[in-house]
Amino acid sequence: MYSRIAGTGSYLPEKILTNKDLEALVDTDDAWIRDRTGIVERRIAAEGQTTCDLAEQAARAALAASGLAPSDIDLLIVGTTTPDVVFPSTACLLQQRLGMGECGAFDINAACTGFIYGLSVADQFIRAGTVKRVLVVGAETLTRMLDWSDRSTCVLFGDGAGAAVLVADQEPGILSTHIHANGGYSHLLKVDVGVSRGFKAEPRGGLSVQMVGNEVFKVAVNTLGRIVDETLEANQLGQGDLDWLVPHQANLRIIKATAKKLQMSMDQVIVTVDRHGNTSAASVPLALDEAVRSGRIKRGDRLLLEAFGGGFTWGSALVVF
Ligand code: COA
Repeated sequence: MYSRIAGTGSYLPEKILTNKDLEALVDTDDAWIRDRTGIVERRIAAEGQTTCDLAEQAARAALAASGLAPSDIDLLIVGTTTPDVVFPSTACLLQQRLGMGECGAFDINAACTGFIYGLSVADQFIRAGTVKRVLVVGAETLTRMLDWSDRSTCVLFGDGAGAAVLVADQEPGILSTHIHANGGYSHLLKVDVGVSRGFKAEPRGGLSVQMVGNEVFKVAVNTLGRIVDETLEANQLGQGDLDWLVPHQANLRIIKATAKKLQMSMDQVIVTVDRHGNTSAASVPLALDEAVRSGRIKRGDRLLLEAFGGGFTWGSALVVF
């Protein structure tokens, strides 16, 4: 038994924040941001619009694409680091919003790797025969926890949501998933406040993403190179055997390094970072959905999905779409 992606969906908030807009906020410029990250603009959730609001739109689109109703779903997984509230989980809120039955519903916090982690868990549940239909969502309002005076982080992130419906099938489907973490790198990328520690951050105050960008960059390039090898080896595939790379959208230079490692032309790489920025757990399903809806990714194509994020966490999925 395999799991197969039956439908995808995504949603972006309406408000666009351009690099030019950011020039008015911090000491930066459009040319620097484009050159160092590939980002041109990003979306910002409207006031009062929550992660669950974004997730709902993406989930409804994925369900419609799969031809399934909310009540058909056996398990709901939401990857997010920006939940509406501490609890109930965003998955529980979304379950109620969609009018699903009493299926299991939980969040995964694996930062930018949240959707890949969710896909991996969903795949294991389906392969084990425990459930037949799983809705996996990656949804974030990361701009809610940016320090808008810190130019090294506030130019990088955006809001959005993406989703996929997985169904049990005799044919693949997801060929393999690979997930990893190394908490030894937690100091390089973090939001240093929380319930148990208290909401007072030291030495800096407030709820904000803190990152040692150039260190993260180096580890990301190296680690993504390793997971690409691991994924190909696990499936006894070579570098020429992939149709598409659907990477996490953090930085165009990181994406290009992974494509180079795979000896793939940039024509075979789905890039949305220019328009979305880094939407964390939403970035891979947003890119996937965009490529599916535009007709670039077709049924039967072989895709490599990968992500890297705070934790550090990283993961991949090899998928026959
Ligand atoms: N505008 C203009 N200058 C900026 C800037 C901005 N928005 N942000 C940083 N700079 C400056 C720095 O202050 C530094 O100046 P200095 O040399 O005078 O000290 C200079 O640019 C170089 O900074 P550095 O951090 O070394 O740049 P970089 O080439 O590594 O690019 C990132 C910075 C953040 C774009 C890059 O490191 C990156 O993308 N890292 C990984 C991010 C990531 O993947 N994060 C999430 C993982 S999910």
